[in-house]
Amino acid sequence: MQARLDAAPLKELDQWDDFVASRYREGRSEEEFRNYKEDANPGVTEFYRQNHARQTLEFVLSKKKQYCGLTRGRKGIWEMAEYLNTLVDESDPDTDLSQVEHLLQTSEAIRKDGRPRWFVLAGLLHDLGKVLCLYGEPQWAVVGDTFPVGCAHSDQVVFPEFFAANPDSRVPEYRTAYGIYSPNCGLDRVHLSWGHDEYIYTVTRKYLPEPAQYMLRYHSFYAAHRHGAYRHLMNPHDEQMFEWVRKFNPYDLYSKGRERPNLAEIRPYYEELVAEFFPTQIDW
Ligand SMILES: [Fe+2]
Ligand SMILES: [Fe+2]
Repeated sequence: MQARLDAAPLKELDQWDDFVASRYREGRSEEEFRNYKEDANPGVTEFYRQNHARQTLEFVLSKKKQYCGLTRGRKGIWEMAEYLNTLVDESDPDTDLSQVEHLLQTSEAIRKDGRPRWFVLAGLLHDLGKVLCLYGEPQWAVVGDTFPVGCAHSDQVVFPEFFAANPDSRVPEYRTAYGIYSPNCGLDRVHLSWGHDEYIYTVTRKYLPEPAQYMLRYHSFYAAHRHGAYRHLMNPHDEQMFEWVRKFNPYDLYSKGRERPNLAEIRPYYEELVAEFFPTQIDW
């Protein structure tokens, strides 16, 4: 059992997203949030145990080296979306949404609110980085709340007790509030735990306006955008841009469970939207 759990504690990648959505159920108070453990099933708990124990500064730097040079070939946005849809886990195709359906539900909710086109596009793109799973990365290196590495872990990150098993917790240089960083150095200089956020940000950054870049890069950084942690590493520009991250978050959390998007109907709109910002193929 332990071996299997080690391999993939989540039955499907979306179990993590579902856990986050239940943690921040609409109308839930900060007080109630503290009971988040009740919402975590054993798989989710085990997932965080692995994530918090293994995301070290060294690991993050190695993954950035491996992926951020974008040397895995050229593909179009749609091509990558279709590739992501081949992610076969234990989800039920009749009741569970496909990866692309989640993306489209998010983007459609943004579109219905009359947001700018780049904002709708951010909704469509935000989880495409989950293809890391198809590249062979374990779940704990693809999803999960992100947090800075190379400095003290905040208690505002869920399951903070699991950081005790992280080797970085025994490195004196990484145990202080600033760690390897300087006061208000700006998040661009801070390494967050590795996952789908940083990867999709890196792939798309040069094609998107800055608020969209922030939405993609920090959408899983709940300790910061939801709980105000790590402000000592943020600069005033980050603070300003986080307004956009916060505007994006409800669409990610609460658009699930709406009607299934009718791809045939909406595809022309999205074809045009993608073509407006991206060339036919980009580096991945
Ligand atoms: Fe995500
Ligand atoms: Fe999402």
